[in-house]
Amino acid sequence: MCGIFGYLGPKTNSLELVIKGLQKLEYRGYDSWGVATDLNGELFVDKKVGKISEAKLDNFKDKSSNIAIGHTRWATHGGVTDINAHPHFSSDKTIAVVHNGIIENYQEIREELGKENFITETDTEVIPQLIAKYRKDNSFKDAVFKAVQRLEGRYAIVVLNVGENYLIAARRGSPLIVGVGKDEYFLASDIPAFLEYTKDVNYLDDDEMVVVDGGVEFINLTTGKPVKKRLINIDWQAESAEKGEYDHYMLKEIMEQKETILRAINQDTDEIMHIAQMIKDSRGCFLSGCGTAGKVCMAGEYFFSIIANRHVNFAPSSEFPVYHHFLRPESLLIIVSQSGETADALEAMEAAKKKGCKVFSIVNVEGSTIARQSDFSLHIKAGPEKAVASTKAATSQMALLLLIATAMIGELQEGRRLLAEVASQINDMLNPRFLNYIKEVAEKIKDQENSYIIGKAENYPMALEAAIKIQEVSYVHAEGFAAGELKHGPIALVTEGTPCISLVANDEVKKDIINNTLELKARGAHIIGISPEKHDVFDDWIKVPDVGIASPLVNIIPTQLLAYYIAVLRGLDPDMPRNLAKSVTVK
Ligand code: F6R
Repeated sequence: MCGIFGYLGPKTNSLELVIKGLQKLEYRGYDSWGVATDLNGELFVDKKVGKISEAKLDNFKDKSSNIAIGHTRWATHGGVTDINAHPHFSSDKTIAVVHNGIIENYQEIREELGKENFITETDTEVIPQLIAKYRKDNSFKDAVFKAVQRLEGRYAIVVLNVGENYLIAARRGSPLIVGVGKDEYFLASDIPAFLEYTKDVNYLDDDEMVVVDGGVEFINLTTGKPVKKRLINIDWQAESAEKGEYDHYMLKEIMEQKETILRAINQDTDEIMHIAQMIKDSRGCFLSGCGTAGKVCMAGEYFFSIIANRHVNFAPSSEFPVYHHFLRPESLLIIVSQSGETADALEAMEAAKKKGCKVFSIVNVEGSTIARQSDFSLHIKAGPEKAVASTKAATSQMALLLLIATAMIGELQEGRRLLAEVASQINDMLNPRFLNYIKEVAEKIKDQENSYIIGKAENYPMALEAAIKIQEVSYVHAEGFAAGELKHGPIALVTEGTPCISLVANDEVKKDIINNTLELKARGAHIIGISPEKHDVFDDWIKVPDVGIASPLVNIIPTQLLAYYIAVLRGLDPDMPRNLAKSVTVK
């Protein structure tokens, strides 16, 4: 949901540096982009519809400045036009702002400042106009402080004031991280923007602002008092945020599942035992997440039930607050989130905290808002996930939930052994022959308009997840069902040649799902079976390893690859699906 980036330091090619940083944040929004700097006391702004990856760096070579801000947009208020792209600036062209979030009271502020002074349709334009208004009688710092007090909604902003060689940033609800290099500073929505320059970061918390000049000064926006922060060193490698030899991040991240599961289960035993005990001690345990993370939670429900004999309730985060009647201080909420910044998930946490519940989170971004606002958090260590479609994070999150379930019954070592075996089997499975075969299957179904996926027990959530993957990157209509539900309605959708993917594990429900698959086949469906064993009903068989209860972790991978190849074969860019952005920081 929009990427923002600001630079202040000794380098005089700040515009190029900001554009390159934004290119690493492109997954956050890619409908338009823009940059601003102070060029010898005059505001320079360039903004355009299109992808930041297409920006021509040569256009900025002659614009020497050591301070710049930039933005890559996922539109919310106002159409995708050059003028609505960020940075936005005040009428007197002294203040420029990049913003991620939504200002809910922007209409009211527009009225107050005189609608005729506004040149864009965006909510953001009120911010530079307000700051400019307060700037008349205040220092830059005080003007920003006063202006943000007026804003309702969610924001992460970086502000540049022409003639002042420093940047100010503030946040409420949207992520903002300060990268601290040698005499240079970076302000960004996410770490990959500046990872090649520094791994030392400070996280801005809600209702804080930071003044970045020759150092960093953090200020609490409620009290106006300074805030002390500890510098945190991030253990990501700059290369891990690059595509490397792959055509797309999505493929790279699918392939990284050869290693990521091992990293996810490499957790401190005491911490795993602690969370296992927290779940056991809780009275009412809930799992919540959004989209793919939500499907991971559903798989977790099955793991806790089948392995640990424990009932845990799942609700998508956007629905979770509705269940507040069931929450009490002894309840536990487990939040699963790759980015750790998803607005709906944060709202679920807020609802739980209001009732005094404890919150445990599983995130991929250390230091993210969800991690920091939880009572206890585990990090899956999957490395940066940049493709919009979540892949490696999902399997790592499932691995960790499964591990916790085994810890609850005193079988943590067995859990570790099983998941290490899964990791090794995935390593063998993801070979070039396997990829080519899946590409051939994708070729057969790529022109179909509809596709259905069925699963049973712990593979039912994977049918739902496979549908998300296919929908979001290939735009083929895909729906996942619990296999037994077909005969209650959805089977009417199946006609001659409709691709139906059946996720079969070698478990006690195998016979049932094969019967359901036969029902589809009898209506003319083209059956793609993902299973350790071949069954006659399959038209195409994608062989996966037999890993017992961990089957969702291996069954989901061929569906990720199918989604990827269908998208590529249809001439689409799987890394940048239409209408979507990574990290959904709006409700
Ligand atoms: C789909 C996908 C999304 C995310 C969802 C939650 O491939 O990536 O459905 O899973 O937006 O995001 P996080 O996990 O960052 O909270």
